[in-house]
Amino acid sequence: MKYAVAGTTGLFVDSRGTGLPLLLLHGFPLDHSMWSAQWPLAQTMHLIAPDLRGFGQSEATEPVQSMSQLASDMDSLLMHMGIEVPVVVCGLSMGGYVAQHFAVQYPDRVAALVLVDTKLEADSPEAREQRQKQIRVIEHHGVEPLVDAVVERLITSAHAREQPVLVELLCKLIRRTSKATLVSALHALANRPDMTEAIGEVTVPTLLVVGREDVITPVSCMDSAMRKISNARMVVIPDCGHMSSMESPLIFNAALTTFLQEVGLISA
Ligand code: MLT
Repeated sequence: MKYAVAGTTGLFVDSRGTGLPLLLLHGFPLDHSMWSAQWPLAQTMHLIAPDLRGFGQSEATEPVQSMSQLASDMDSLLMHMGIEVPVVVCGLSMGGYVAQHFAVQYPDRVAALVLVDTKLEADSPEAREQRQKQIRVIEHHGVEPLVDAVVERLITSAHAREQPVLVELLCKLIRRTSKATLVSALHALANRPDMTEAIGEVTVPTLLVVGREDVITPVSCMDSAMRKISNARMVVIPDCGHMSSMESPLIFNAALTTFLQEVGLISA
């Protein structure tokens, strides 16, 4: 199903199940299908898994500009879908940056926040330089030279060995993202603001989930988020990298369900 947001940009959304709305925001440079191991949760919730603008089957009539723009796309999307009740917003990595902006920009729309393998801090100068290098490679040679190195950092080497299907899916999603979206999103990631102060405004129950072996947004990022978010709890998943919802779906789904039960949003 596609909905037009910001005037003309058609956003694809996979919407399934009924009950508490759970907005699932994917990481970079992926799409909604990274959440397929969460589809069983549609037995008790309404899963709303969009492709952010430019990614997957969504259009990019105007390119990605900022995390805040992607958050306001989500507000329009929910409006078009007729969802007025507060939703649980769950975002992994880049999706987590968008989720933070959404929670700050639209506090009345949020029942709970789930931040997965993400961070509050802006990019360091070194991280920005690294993104500039990636942009130069993509502009001159396309994404192919980066695919293996990106996937290597997303999941643990054990999961890469044991779950070739996971590697295949990640490679496929990276390869099918357009050059224009890769470049515009890398600029937006590099320029995203530091959220460590703004996140203090968030008072809804918050779950932080991180893979113990995450090398992109390590456990220390979530430790610092724990100190900044007033109503947060944290789950660290052992033997798991950056893609915890894909790498360890059973533990992830159980942690999410338990959290939503504990805060009274779904029944036990
Ligand atoms: C992601 O997984 O969304 C990206 O690694 C985020 C980032 O590069 O900051």
